[in-house]
Amino acid sequence: MSKIVIDTTKKLNKISKNIYGHFSEHLGRCIYGGLYVGEASDIPNINGMRTDVVEALRAIKIPVLRWPGGCFADEYHWQDGIGEKTLRKKMINTHWGGVTEDNSFGTHEFFELCNQLGCEAYVNGNLGSGTVREMSEWVEYMTFSGISSMSALREANGNKEPWKVAYFGVGNENWACGGNMRPSYYADEYRRYQTYIRNYDKNNKIFKVACGSNGPDFDWTDIVMEIAGKYMDGISMHHYTVPRANWQNKGFATEFSEEDYYSTIEQCRRIEELIKGHLFLMDKHDKEKRVKLIVDEWGTWFDAEPGTTPGFLYQQNTMRDAMVASLTLDIFNKYSSRVEMANIAQTVNVLQSVILTENERMVKTPTYHVFDLYKEHMDAGLLDSYALGGKVSVTASEKNGEIFIAVTNYDYDSSDDIEISLTGLTPKGVSAQILTAGKATAHNTFDEPNMVTLADYNVTAAGEVIKVKMPACSVAGIKVK
Ligand code: AHR
Repeated sequence: MSKIVIDTTKKLNKISKNIYGHFSEHLGRCIYGGLYVGEASDIPNINGMRTDVVEALRAIKIPVLRWPGGCFADEYHWQDGIGEKTLRKKMINTHWGGVTEDNSFGTHEFFELCNQLGCEAYVNGNLGSGTVREMSEWVEYMTFSGISSMSALREANGNKEPWKVAYFGVGNENWACGGNMRPSYYADEYRRYQTYIRNYDKNNKIFKVACGSNGPDFDWTDIVMEIAGKYMDGISMHHYTVPRANWQNKGFATEFSEEDYYSTIEQCRRIEELIKGHLFLMDKHDKEKRVKLIVDEWGTWFDAEPGTTPGFLYQQNTMRDAMVASLTLDIFNKYSSRVEMANIAQTVNVLQSVILTENERMVKTPTYHVFDLYKEHMDAGLLDSYALGGKVSVTASEKNGEIFIAVTNYDYDSSDDIEISLTGLTPKGVSAQILTAGKATAHNTFDEPNMVTLADYNVTAAGEVIKVKMPACSVAGIKVK
């Protein structure tokens, strides 16, 4: 039996809704076939965007979308993706399968997608193989409303009004696929490139994100913060949950042992140490704690599904992924006074995706349902909470007088009777939903899309205590009035 204590009188910071953000990359079938099918497709779409996928993402209130990469970002030349589609330049997507990218999804299409989703835009610029001028003109093209060649070009391509760019990333993984740079070199390049990312509109102050480290590379953060800290609003960090040390044999998404399960959990929980370490070094150079940590890539990374193109990184998604999602989101919530945004990789058809598609069919993954539950935490006030004993994780928050508690029991095969003590509150009403499926390998398929889904759940409340029986490998959302 585990215990959770929540101090309902101790409201901490607001949990930024953008912690529940997403990442779309030109990788495999994320964009093409996943989010975008083109206007001529038989698959129902609005201006080329899949209606089923857009509706599913709207339902979880997707707050922000990062694009176009990832490694793809540092070989993407935005001018190739505007204008008449048949005339757009074709390129080789060298990182992801060597396929031909026809650039039919470009800047205008991205903002059309954000508009349909009702989310903010996080655009990642090309520092690795692009020029300062190219990056500067992209920002001008997207955000300038006055008279200039870039705004005229945008208008000629169909959009008189500029768009809002909430976040702009200055390169991606520049220590590897983004140019193999050393931290001091990147930091100087960052200073130069960011100079020309202008705020053309007083209502669109662009939040500039510097490329952060490769997981535990603390030197990178230390050096980049020292040289360039005062020129950025945020610095990124990437952490993938890979169950085995051998990248050539990570194991498959749906077939795994109990040992693989627990090593996955352990790897996912390492993110807390990374966050603490990077925040420590950021604070060393930024005493006011002005610069935010942006975890703009996270999620599980397994071997690609058998029979699929390895370079497309397509993987299934089980209750194990759901556990990784809820445990990771709990950690982001815990550090949400400094973690401003996080973006799961990748929204559709790639790594820890919330949606999978196959031609006209679509399934919501267990990870989707965790995001569905956790949406209650968006922009809510974090409450002080603690889990004692067992394999239990929790986030509690308060919004509009209601408390929302997300509880995870990540034990592989044992249920747990959990007692939740609410300091300072006797509930007037309690309701709950649960995600559970009997075993960690449970997942949804195109033939059985609702094997794993949310269901209403019974919890009991007496005085200041709520009791909930959590099955093995389950996550519940409890609403308290
Ligand atoms: O998500 C796949 C890749 O992982 C991204 O393109 C890159 O940034 C990271 O290495």
